[in-house]
Amino acid sequence: MKKVMLVFGTRPEAIKMCPLVKELRKRNGLQVVVCVTGQHRHMLDQVLATFDVVPDYDFSIMKQGQTLFDITVNILNSIRGVLESVKPDIVLVHGDTSTTFAAALACFYLQVPIGHVEAGLRTYNICSPYPEEFNRQAVSIISTYNFAPTLLAAENLTREGRKPKTIYITGNTVIDAMQHTVKKGYYHPELDWVGDSKMIFITAHRRENLGMPMHHMFRAIRRVLEEHPECKAVYPIHMNPVVRKAAEEELGNCSQIHIIEPIEVFDCHNFEARCHLCLTDSGGIQEECPAFGRPVLVMRDTTERPEGVAAGTLRLVGTNEEVIYQNFMELLEDQKAYDKMAHASNPYGDGHASERIADILEKGEYDPWMAG
Ligand code: UD1
Ligand code: UDP
Repeated sequence: MKKVMLVFGTRPEAIKMCPLVKELRKRNGLQVVVCVTGQHRHMLDQVLATFDVVPDYDFSIMKQGQTLFDITVNILNSIRGVLESVKPDIVLVHGDTSTTFAAALACFYLQVPIGHVEAGLRTYNICSPYPEEFNRQAVSIISTYNFAPTLLAAENLTREGRKPKTIYITGNTVIDAMQHTVKKGYYHPELDWVGDSKMIFITAHRRENLGMPMHHMFRAIRRVLEEHPECKAVYPIHMNPVVRKAAEEELGNCSQIHIIEPIEVFDCHNFEARCHLCLTDSGGIQEECPAFGRPVLVMRDTTERPEGVAAGTLRLVGTNEEVIYQNFMELLEDQKAYDKMAHASNPYGDGHASERIADILEKGEYDPWMAG
């Protein structure tokens, strides 16, 4: 029986890997081992609980204010023994976090084949997002199965010289998760607080935005809200203390914003489905909001999700206070501009990505080392 080990460690990886864990566990020909690094703690555990996934291994590496060195070194030290004792036939990693990179590097050192889920996303600016663009490019060099969510992602990989027969277009597993989260009669106390106001949904966490960029983002949001009393913003805040300090300083006493603890993915998708518009620097939210036709102002200089920009639902606004202010104001005051962005479009798959990946792993007939 083929042994498949999945390694993940942060909230977004868990959201996109748990549907795959569930699908792989249905397959008779596969033995599934789940290993979490614990790069995130509470935010990871929230997702594991939602999907009812209990890891076989948990490195619990998270510490407050962890650096990229801490994460990478601690994972490398923890994973070696597990790989040596489990002896997986293949290890699946997801996306572009430090967990992804460190786990893939360990596999490479031990010559364990790697399957990269959500492969091929690119900005081609190695510092943006930082360090994610490096992480995903590095994994592509050593991965033997590349599960690309879209044609564009697959084309990036082909252009970079990855062999076509190692690349599979599967859709994004986040769409699989979304099939089960969004409900019609959904209720949450925050929605009562919002009432008939326009709900603005906010998230922010990117490493390259910590410091002044984040202060500028928050200042712009506050200025717009104060000029638009018909809006109320809900901001489930990331647990990074640096983010929390900046948010408290800039938004703390603004009565139109509720800063709340991280919400479950079930709540998050339902909030997205009901918001008027979203301001974020998140990667995953750029994939989710287009499916609901909710305009997204992406507070970053680059995006690896050009499909959403092409569909018209995402607009890159960077982190300059004036630019965010102008774009946010426009969407509130110019109905045509708003309507132009508010079209449901889902370039990221049909909700069957996990099944496709499981099929490939179950029936895969080529030797990945020969193919890679
Ligand atoms: C990480 C990923 C990023 C991903 C993001 C998703 C890297 C380098 N970055 O960034 O790609 O977009 O996760 O959210 O891999 N913390 C807690 N509890 C938690 C989670 C975080 O207290 O459950 C705090 C800790 O103080 C931690 C800090 O947040 O030190 C930052 O976490 P870290 O994983 O280093 O970076 P993220 O910004 O979350
Ligand atoms: N999310 C969540 N609770 C929150 C905020 C976000 O479940 O309070 C979900 C969101 O729906 C998306 C994912 O977390 O699926 C995005 O994670 P994040 O923004 O932390 O990371 P990124 O996608 O930028 O790597």
